[in-house]
Amino acid sequence: MASPPARIFVLTGAGISAESGLGTFRDRGGIWERFDPMRLATPEAFAADPDTVLDFYNWRRRNALAAEPNPAHRALARAQARLADGGGRLFLCTQNVDDLHERGGAEAVTHMHGALLRARCTGCGHGFACRGDILRADPCPGCARTGTLRPDIVWFGEMPMHLEAIDARLREADLFVAVGTSGSVLSAAGYVTQARSLGIRTCELNLEPSDNASLFDEARYGPASEIVPAFLADLGLA
Ligand code: APR
Repeated sequence: MASPPARIFVLTGAGISAESGLGTFRDRGGIWERFDPMRLATPEAFAADPDTVLDFYNWRRRNALAAEPNPAHRALARAQARLADGGGRLFLCTQNVDDLHERGGAEAVTHMHGALLRARCTGCGHGFACRGDILRADPCPGCARTGTLRPDIVWFGEMPMHLEAIDARLREADLFVAVGTSGSVLSAAGYVTQARSLGIRTCELNLEPSDNASLFDEARYGPASEIVPAFLADLGLA
């Protein structure tokens, strides 16, 4: 078996957590079909009705904590460790805000849309781990102000996080793999195009062809818990 690529960039989306019971956004019955993102996932929505927005993310945080990693999360973690042992790198960039990659054993996870298990103060900027509900009456651990805490999540209209690190890792990759993402939200949706322009081989692992499907050199379709372990095993990274 040929040796695996030395540097793999993996972008994951809501589809990798679907079999763990967490909803995706744009599938039938998805989160944005049931809830209006303009009322729940924008800075303006938070300013207009902070309690409703905080409740929405408190509900999503509880769901995420009640979910368990699935074989796709665990296979990616094993592959990340195997590649590191060989001096390579599997850069795991996720659009997801759950912690299932971490609980599945991944050592390094880049959350470009933030994390449900973190909160941030809009007064002093203090960010901190938070596993419980965020309430407006809660004082900031940094500045003690109340009424200033928000989820440390990237909302529509805000810049994704860690863009410089993501760009640097993408430029050095030998293989770009997108898992469980519809390819409908920038900047993540543009990474396959950037990879192609750099001559990097691209692969889509998804339940069904995404909006970007035609841009990938290779694709495998099916549930992530089946196709992700199989794909990584074929790379010699099981
Ligand atoms: N296995 C693999 N893929 C799956 C599975 C599964 N079991 N179930 C669903 N999918 C695929 C769907 O076919 C779809 O292409 O996962 C993708 C989910 O797409 P979206 O719901 O759009 O989620 P995502 O691409 O992560 O959304 C990106 O949009 O709303 C914002 O911030 C939010 O991070 C999110 C971003």
